[in-house]
Amino acid sequence: MLQYKDYTESADYIKGRLKGFSPQYLLVLGSGLGAMAQSVQNQICIPYSDIPHFKTSTAPGHSGQFVCGELAGKPVIVMQGRLHFYEGYSAEEVAYPVRVAKLLGAHSLIVTNAAGGINTDYKVGDLVVLKDFIKFGLPNPLIGKNIPEFGPRFPDMSYVFDRDYTRIIKEVAGEQGVILREGVYFYATGPQYETPAEIRAFRTLGGDVVGMSTVHECIYANHAGMKILGISLVTNMAAGVLDQPLSEQEVLDAGAAAQGSFSRLLLAFLQKL
Ligand code: HPA
Repeated sequence: MLQYKDYTESADYIKGRLKGFSPQYLLVLGSGLGAMAQSVQNQICIPYSDIPHFKTSTAPGHSGQFVCGELAGKPVIVMQGRLHFYEGYSAEEVAYPVRVAKLLGAHSLIVTNAAGGINTDYKVGDLVVLKDFIKFGLPNPLIGKNIPEFGPRFPDMSYVFDRDYTRIIKEVAGEQGVILREGVYFYATGPQYETPAEIRAFRTLGGDVVGMSTVHECIYANHAGMKILGISLVTNMAAGVLDQPLSEQEVLDAGAAAQGSFSRLLLAFLQKL
């Protein structure tokens, strides 16, 4: 079990490297979407491996560092590469950086991911603003002794995704002529892609996209009272939607193809805040 002291030690180390810079927005960049970190101005990069108590990401398309600085004039801390439960980390370890960012001053989490399209109205390349998520019975980072410095034992989850942020990102998408869907993220641990029968079940249960990340970070951010914007990029249609197998390469390729429009959307969103 991680202790409050571990979080403060990680945050204190980072503070020492940031020399007075205080980030307000934590951005988590998903598979193949990490290039946006290159647009950060006045960068200070901190590899996860330098930070006490931090784990490093091993997933393809994820480098493992924080990039701190300004994006659209806003003070951000960008996670270029995130951790996943399927890498063998505990749910708590996966979500750990969110609490550290909160201690550094971040009041908001902007979380992105690559996801499979369950909703048959969606197509590859679509962006989906998340309105909720489903994480059925799978490991929860809040299990264990509550750390009241972050939040209550039984946090409310009625409004995980901030309604103002959702309104603003829809406005920005409209201005840019980007089609933005709104849907529910269904979490699956991976690392194997789902079976077609699982995808049919997830659709019946209300999932619009499926992915292997995001929910642990959102639970910690919600617990700590942070405002959250979540966006999925549909990198492939989920198993069984099309009569073809899934591959990691198509996920990375679709991420690369969408980098430009995804970055422009997020930059314009930050500008409006
Ligand atoms: N399933 C789970 N995770 C994913 C998928 C998928 O189809 N695509 C990208 N991440």
